[in-house]
Parts: sequence; C-alpha cells; structure tokens
Amino acid sequence: MSVAFSLHPLQEYITQQTDPVCAYYYDLDYLSQRIQWISENLPDKVNFYYAIKANSDQPVLETLSPYIHGFEVASLGEIHKARQADSHRPIAFGGPGKTRVELQGALDAGVELYHIESVLQLDRLNELAAKAGQKVKVLLRVNPRFELPDATLQMAGKATQFGIDQAQIPEVLASLASYPQLECVGFHFHAISNNLDADSHLLLVKTYIEVARGWQQSHGLNMELLNIGGGIGINYQDSDQQFAWQHYCQELNKLIQEADIAFSLAMECGRFVSATCGCYVAEVTDIKSNHDQYFAVLRGGNHQFRLPSSWQHNHPFQVISVDHWPWSYPRPGILGEKITLCGELCTPKDVLASRVEIEQLNVGDLILFEQTGAYGWHISHHNFLSHAHPDRIYHSNSQLLFIKEDASC
Ligand SMILES: Cc1ncc(COP(=O)(O)O)c(C=O)c1O
Repeated sequence: MSVAFSLHPLQEYITQQTDPVCAYYYDLDYLSQRIQWISENLPDKVNFYYAIKANSDQPVLETLSPYIHGFEVASLGEIHKARQADSHRPIAFGGPGKTRVELQGALDAGVELYHIESVLQLDRLNELAAKAGQKVKVLLRVNPRFELPDATLQMAGKATQFGIDQAQIPEVLASLASYPQLECVGFHFHAISNNLDADSHLLLVKTYIEVARGWQQSHGLNMELLNIGGGIGINYQDSDQQFAWQHYCQELNKLIQEADIAFSLAMECGRFVSATCGCYVAEVTDIKSNHDQYFAVLRGGNHQFRLPSSWQHNHPFQVISVDHWPWSYPRPGILGEKITLCGELCTPKDVLASRVEIEQLNVGDLILFEQTGAYGWHISHHNFLSHAHPDRIYHSNSQLLFIKEDASC
C-alpha cells in the first residue's frame, strides 16, 4: 500500500494540532502531474472531460482545467463550480434528473453539450431552447442491451434509471426532426465504474463504436462525437496492480485508426483522475473489545468518508504512530490483533475497515486512509450527528491552502 506524494507537510500539520486530528489532505502538484500523464498518453481524437462529481473542490478543478478538454457535470451546482474554476472550459451536462430549472440554468450558463437521458428531457430542452432562441448540441445517453465487463458499479446494461434503453433508440432517432432546437451529434455511454481491466474496457469501446455506427448509418446521423464515459478504475486493494493506462491508450489509438472513424471520442473520468491525489487521516479516540473482537473508534467516519461502507470494502490504510500520551490514566491499545476501524457515528454501518490485522495500535495514533481524493468527502453525508467537519488541506508549491466549512448545524 502506498501514497504517491510526500506526506511531510501533512505530518507538520498533525504536530500542530491540539484537538484530535481529522483531515483530508490533497497534493495538487501530484494531481497536476497525474493529469498531464493521463492526457499525454491519450490519442488526439479523444476529448477528455473530468467528471467533477468525484471531487469538485475549486483547487482541484483549477489544477485540472489547463490539461482537460472540459468538465462533465450533473447538476446546476456543478455547472456553477465548473464555470467558477474556468469560465471558458466546455461543459457536458449529464444526469437522469434534469429539471426545467436546471436546464434553463444550463442554457443561461451557455453549456456546450447535453447528455439526454429520456424523451421528456428532449421535450423540455427543446421547448426551453426555443424560448431562449438557442440551438444546442445533444448526445443520446444509451442504456446498452449488450453484455458488459465486470466492474464494481454497473449503471446500465440492466434495468436502471440511467439513459435510454438501447431498444428505444431507433424510435428516438426517428423523432429527432420534431426537435428543431436540438442538434443530435452522437451518443453517450457510461455503463460501469471502477473497471480495472484495460482489455475488457477496449472491447467495450469497440462495441460502443459498432453500435453507434450502425445508428449513424441507418438514420443518416451527422455524428460528431461518441462519449465512451468514465469508469476507469483504481485498485484500492492492490495499489501495484492499476489499470494499464498507457496500454489502453495505445490500443485505443489503434482501434481508432482501424475503425477509421470520422467522429471524435469523449471520455469523462472522475475516479481515475483524482482518487490518488488525496488521503484522509483520523485519530484513534478509543480502543475496546466487545463480544471477543477489538474495535478502534476514530475521530471521523463514514459521514466524512463514505466510500468503504458504500462499497463494503476494507479501505487501505497506514498507521501513523504517536508516542505522546500526556494523561495520567492508562492508554488503551492492541498488539498483533485483528481490529475493526469504526467511525464516531451512532450506527454499526460506520465501519471503514473490518477485522484487519494490525501489529500495534494505541489510542492517539492516527489512521491514514489512502487514495481518498475521489468520492471521499464529496459523496458523504457530512452533517449526520453534527460533528465538526474535517479540515481539507491542499498542498501546492510548498504552500498549504485550507478549506474550512461551517459545520454548526
Ligand atoms: C454519467 C457519468 N459519467 C462519468 C462518471 C465518472 O465515473 P468514474 O469516476 O467511474 O470515471 C460518472 C460517475 O458516476 C457518471 O455518472
């Protein structure tokens, strides 16, 4: 298990704390290098969007913006965040629940591309765009009927709320003439998340291209773009076995050449971009045994870092040992035991790693959870139990930037 950047500034921060430590730490210099590496390898024909739902903090968006084609967003709030980070970077607006208010907001903000998830979304957008005197570009989001590779999360390829059933796409294509304000320029597929296997992902893209081409030909569509989604994974359990990005990009380039496609591809990745730039550190505030098992309680938990309980996995971590124990009473701890790392919430679901073997752990030590830069803070239910929010610390150019939010609720 590893962290890809220096933890020295975080350690300095820790030594300055008087209250139990609870913080997210993100390294923006590392993030900048990573996005450059990701984009340098990509074939020219691929427009790379960052899916900001993974981590939409301004320092992250501003760091990524110079190296990406655009931002993929799924709400009006995300549109505002993306525009705030870079008012010129193109935006692709997705999501199954786009209301009239959100679509109007997107039109007002001059959003460049809309991912359409239902016939009603076509109707709403067409009517609002007509009133605004705008013509807008749309992609039809497809919920595929073909088989998908294994991945941690499956958004489509089965009955879900996402996209338009592949079987209904021909009917929708046949109706496009009745939407004069909308220019359908292609298709959008985002079906799986956290795929670790580059070859199965390539096969999936090949199928997307074939299916999209079939519709392009049968309906005479002027296709400009095929969005192949995000879903490139991060291996949380074995950090040495990551998605083979360079291999994927080389093979994708070959696929593009062989298929001789006239349209561009788009990708919209979240996790693969920002997961490895962050970690979450939480102090052990109690250790005890219950029903013959050990439990460590942390200052923090799944209200701040929901990913482990959402995925029911043991999140990778390191122990940072702390010698200091100023109290007159005994310091609880364990030596060479299995222990469950829990948060401070009043629910047995607040578990970040279950029955993990630890050489030594004492109250006052810190647990540093790795690879928490994506879908960490941003998917968590922050105000449950009204605990103080963690500090969010951004390191760049030897400077620390703090985001402190009002947690008084
Ligand atoms: C439509 C859409 N695109 C892109 C993403 C980003 O996915 P990932 O972080 O797996 O790359 C998501 C994530 O839920 C999504 O819903």
